[in-house]
Amino acid sequence: MKKYNIAIVGATGLVGSTFLKVMAEYKIEVNNLYLYASEKSEGKEIKYLDKTYKVIDLKKAKFDNVDFALFSAGGSVSNEYAPKFSAGGAYVIDNSSNFRMVKDIPLIVPEINISDYKMNKIIANPNCSTIQSVLPLYYLDKEFKVTKINYTTFQAVSGSGMKGLNDLYDTRNGENPKFYPYNISKTCIPEIDVFLDNHYTKEEMKMVNETRKILHNDDIKISATCVRVPIPYSHGVSIVATFEKEINYKKALETLENKPGIIVVDDIKNHGYPVATVSTGTDLVYCGRFRDDLATENTIIFYTVADNVRKGAAANAVEIMLKIMEDME
Ligand SMILES: NC(=O)c1ccc[n+]([C@@H]2O[C@H](COP(=O)([O-])OP(=O)(O)OC[C@H]3O[C@@H](n4cnc5c(N)ncnc54)[C@H](OP(=O)(O)O)[C@@H]3O)[C@@H](O)[C@H]2O)c1
Repeated sequence: MKKYNIAIVGATGLVGSTFLKVMAEYKIEVNNLYLYASEKSEGKEIKYLDKTYKVIDLKKAKFDNVDFALFSAGGSVSNEYAPKFSAGGAYVIDNSSNFRMVKDIPLIVPEINISDYKMNKIIANPNCSTIQSVLPLYYLDKEFKVTKINYTTFQAVSGSGMKGLNDLYDTRNGENPKFYPYNISKTCIPEIDVFLDNHYTKEEMKMVNETRKILHNDDIKISATCVRVPIPYSHGVSIVATFEKEINYKKALETLENKPGIIVVDDIKNHGYPVATVSTGTDLVYCGRFRDDLATENTIIFYTVADNVRKGAAANAVEIMLKIMEDME
């Protein structure tokens, strides 16, 4: 494969460092690699493949010699700098929520809608919980046409970046919480991102709006409840989904067997179901606990688990970049 000039914005963070890890696993050789973070990280050394690079203050960035810019430094940084990199000619793949619902900006899960990337040089990576939910739903939707979804999430603290991980580990050691409003080592917290006027949180409405955008269907009725739980990595999502066509849990299981990006684990006699300790470090969406809903017809319930920092963020972004690179060869 050709070598490209790649910029990582937020290279010292949880997602940024995982971009590099995933790129190294794919053995992506670079022409130039620019590692950007805030002023406080300037000069810090980071190794990629066999070379060591110095972190540069983003304020000193140059925009005219970059093919791909992978962003994970928060919404306001993306808002200011992503247009500059794309104007300089780069494909920007952004992990913040800043551009996700902008009309002409594609929101991509590569297994679902990679061809959407041609719409714009800025590409948005969906919310972590959305990615692992929408992938199995996409395959089920193609067969049975989804009409209604109810999500309940169980989200790991790494979804809040380094601050979340530190708060879990520090409170486990008896310190008072510095980041979450309650002691995350001792309780689940049903509040992720800010509360909105409709009493949902912004995280919950991301799941509602992003699912519709990725499945290209604004008519799906969706609700979500998002909960932070005291584990370091891998989000869980319980999904209740209603379909137009007749469905039951066995048909759903058959549909999801051997689908790209999915691994079905549903062997209840042997405690076989998705768990964070298995999904962490992988790029697959684990699906299991398939049941027919007892309350509503043509409705199934199942549970997904995926590594939020990898498939929910960095790996999804690198997979998008690789597909574009393939098209550029
Ligand atoms: N964690 C997840 O599971 C996940 C999943 C999906 C999306 N995301 C999104 O990815 C982004 C980063 O998340 P994270 O979990 O990696 O957070 P993180 O661990 O806190 O890392 C944040 C990164 O952004 C950099 N940064 C902050 N302010 C900056 C500024 N003004 N200029 C330049 N660089 C700046 C930081 O650099 P310094 O080290 O120099 O401060 C650091 O490299 C967020 O938008 C988040 O919503 C995260």
